[in-house]
Amino acid sequence: MYPVRLVGSNVVLREIEPDDWREARVLDSDPEVVRYQTNDLLDEAGTKAALARSIGFASVVPRTVYDFAICLPGEERYVGRAGLGIGRPEHREASVWFHLRRDHWGRGLGSAALTALLDFAFGELGLHRIFGDCDPRNLHSARLMERVGMVREAHFRENYWVKGEWCGAFIYAVLEQDWRALKARKVR
Ligand SMILES: CC(C)(COP(=O)(O)OP(=O)(O)OC[C@H]1O[C@@H](n2cnc3c(N)ncnc32)[C@H](O)[C@@H]1OP(=O)(O)O)[C@@H](O)C(=O)NCCC(=O)NCCS
Repeated sequence: MYPVRLVGSNVVLREIEPDDWREARVLDSDPEVVRYQTNDLLDEAGTKAALARSIGFASVVPRTVYDFAICLPGEERYVGRAGLGIGRPEHREASVWFHLRRDHWGRGLGSAALTALLDFAFGELGLHRIFGDCDPRNLHSARLMERVGMVREAHFRENYWVKGEWCGAFIYAVLEQDWRALKARKVR
């Protein structure tokens, strides 16, 4: 499925383009953004390579990786990225990710982007289970997943050795029937 454009409430998710690299540098060079990630800061070549990988994944058939630029409505400017990756198709399960420029944190944009992604996952893609993980110290990420209705299923202790220290992981997930029930409650 290409190109995909998701219009959510106060957010647009569009396909990533090579020209996004300049805006993507703001995200990829901010230590606060990668603070609780397994990946590190990227230099310009790293940003361009990451965007090229995302663009490459978009043309794989069947498509299993949807990595989108997050934009404000009425703008096409890249202010972050969010996406999902499908594992074995028969399990109808995907993991999600989301990263926003720091000057856009705390305004509900992350929640709007994740909600649009989940609508797409359970709608057009017909998936059954979506999960995400975060370092337990990453309160914004944990709160974001809770806020949209994902449920914390696990707390793995010290399961990653990252950047010179043991890190844990919260696992959050939502099932298609949970999502339908949440949406039905909201329209009432
Ligand atoms: C995680 C992230 C996408 C959240 O995006 P966001 O647009 O700020 O999230 P929202 O505004 O929708 O808010 C989600 C929750 O985080 C809280 N929050 C977000 N930014 C905050 C801030 N700067 N200070 C305090 N709380 C904050 C919100 O209050 C909200 O919690 P609430 O429901 O209790 O009010 C963003 O912080 C980010 O990009 N972080 C760096 C990358 C990252 O860690 N990604 C996740 C990988 S696991």
